[in-house]
Amino acid sequence: MGGVAVVLRSLTLAGRFITLEGGEGVGKSTQAARLAEALRALGRTVVLTREPGGTPGAEAIRALLMTGEAERWDARAEALLFAAARADHVACVIRPALARGDWVICDRFIDSTRAYQGGAGGVSDADIMALHRVGSEGLLPDRTLLFEFPVELGMERTYGRDLLSPDRMGSRDAAYYADVAARFRRFAEAGEARFRIVDASGSVDEVAARVLAAATDAP
Ligand code: TMP
Repeated sequence: MGGVAVVLRSLTLAGRFITLEGGEGVGKSTQAARLAEALRALGRTVVLTREPGGTPGAEAIRALLMTGEAERWDARAEALLFAAARADHVACVIRPALARGDWVICDRFIDSTRAYQGGAGGVSDADIMALHRVGSEGLLPDRTLLFEFPVELGMERTYGRDLLSPDRMGSRDAAYYADVAARFRRFAEAGEARFRIVDASGSVDEVAARVLAAATDAP
């Protein structure tokens, strides 16, 4: 009986690591906050975080990546910086939260490096995954929600935002972002069970309902 109770307890305490991925302006940050709110209402303890960032060290690396000239870092240097920021974030925030049984919602993770530095940037997927093994012991999400939204509309949405606070990563051309979107879709369709493609068009409430369903369905 005791054994059954322990198994039941570990099942109910099991956290889940959920990542939100997609191009610019697809609504990930808004939906990450909505998902956290919905899961908390269901009684889960939720850690809401983002990449690059999530710890003081990783936020310092974010500042290096997001400011300055486009040529400041090439794709290989970027891949190393993202891997270093992620290593700190995984060790200090994500793994401890999962060990406590919390749900972790992370706005971008390894698939962003695979799509941006790997795809459009030309670093091989094998090299990016090798950096991830060294930095974060290869931690993968339980569930990855890929937000699908027309690239041009996403760019239009970020245009106004970038006029107010321009950032280095958000100032690339349409072909680059189209390539990033194609990469994301290829990962999601490659057969890994963790992926769900979420239609990100429609009202915030409509998308939030799709996101909650995709985040909580059975593995
Ligand atoms: P965001 O906070 O608006 O999502 O911006 C983060 C930017 O950094 C966005 O342009 C995507 C980019 N990025 C990468 O290129 N590689 C990565 O691994 C991550 C996490 C983000």
